[in-house]
Amino acid sequence: MENEGLQFLYLSEPDMLEAGVLDMKQCVRTMEDMFLLAGKGDYIMGGPKGNSHGIMLWYPENPAFEGMPKAGPDRRYMVMPAYLGGRFHVTGQKWYGSNVENIKKGMPRSILMFSLNDADTGAPMAIMSANLLSAARTGAVPGVAAKYLKSASAENIAVIGCGVINHACTMAIAEGMGRINKVYLYDINKDRAISFQQDMEKEFIAEYEICDSLEEALRYADVISVATAGKVKVHITPEMLKPGALLTITGTAELPDEMYLKNRVAVDNWQMHLDYLEEGKMHEKGLESIKDWASSYDMLMLYDKGILKEDNIVSLGDVVAGTAAPRKSDDDKLLLVVGGLPIEDVAWGYDLYNKALEKGLGQKLKIWDKPHWH
Ligand SMILES: NC(=O)c1ccc[n+]([C@@H]2O[C@H](COP(=O)([O-])OP(=O)(O)OC[C@H]3O[C@@H](n4cnc5c(N)ncnc54)[C@H](O)[C@@H]3O)[C@@H](O)[C@H]2O)c1
Repeated sequence: MENEGLQFLYLSEPDMLEAGVLDMKQCVRTMEDMFLLAGKGDYIMGGPKGNSHGIMLWYPENPAFEGMPKAGPDRRYMVMPAYLGGRFHVTGQKWYGSNVENIKKGMPRSILMFSLNDADTGAPMAIMSANLLSAARTGAVPGVAAKYLKSASAENIAVIGCGVINHACTMAIAEGMGRINKVYLYDINKDRAISFQQDMEKEFIAEYEICDSLEEALRYADVISVATAGKVKVHITPEMLKPGALLTITGTAELPDEMYLKNRVAVDNWQMHLDYLEEGKMHEKGLESIKDWASSYDMLMLYDKGILKEDNIVSLGDVVAGTAAPRKSDDDKLLLVVGGLPIEDVAWGYDLYNKALEKGLGQKLKIWDKPHWH
């Protein structure tokens, strides 16, 4: 067949904003579609088992060569490929570098890009800025969880850590819950809670309260979103939670073992978390190597020791597909641990690509008129 030339669409961050990357209502719907497909198994992620979070460059503690990147807090380079079926039928990959030192250079900690590729030919369809794409899809997951796992009477949210990711989580949870009475805010840096409240008041109407302690923020909360960053980890015990509460963890938190053992635990995709476990075991430092960045580290340790059983764990895809229902009573305290799936980026990237085409956004860039070697 005569080749007609090949081009792809480049979408900058302003293009992504115009395409609606922060439209959390739509993003929650897209994530719901994606989880339904995940529940049916109509996806492939990386690795021989098709369930890998991605391929990471594990930077050495003591590089043998000058200039070689050295291990550091939140420092990594990651590539996350995936295929998603159903109405998406497309492949793609997010790739990003993360280094806390970036902040000193006036850059975000992580800088993310995403490419969308035709599932049949592999040809690139788009390359897009993905910082906001990633934040939105990450935030939408607790939103889907809130819709499916909240108690019947849920009406209050607690936001623990008032940063970028929780902006998206809170908007999505409000969407997933449908009705909101009160939003309790807690951050170790009170100024961040104050500006967070100002931002959220523009997004949805609710009563807001900035709390002086974690306990105060959790006391009346039905859905809790923890997305903190840094050395001081949040420590939450079951006694701090209201009966029926749904605790969502995006990032890391210190939880006593009983939080994982007393009620069933939901994760975004258990098979992916098992992949973390396998990868960790292959590293020279063993499972310690995943401690800093795997949200499910504590849970995986309990599982590996045989204390936490597989039938206590459900994947959100199975919940959305209707094959698992972790909430047995309105008083159950449920936990959701989120690691982040490459198929989330593919789903949201695909919908934004179509929006960009519809609105005529971005720049078309040529790869070739005719391939030089063919
Ligand atoms: N699962 C995923 O797919 C995914 C994707 C992106 C980011 N994340 C994680 O989300 C988390 C939040 O990221 P971010 O970009 O919003 O960070 P951020 O720095 O913008 O915000 C974090 C906030 O947490 C506050 N904080 C820190 N420790 C606290 C504590 N103990 N109690 C209360 N508040 C505390 C900080 O003051 C800050 O305001 C990170 O752990 C990040 O790794 C997860």
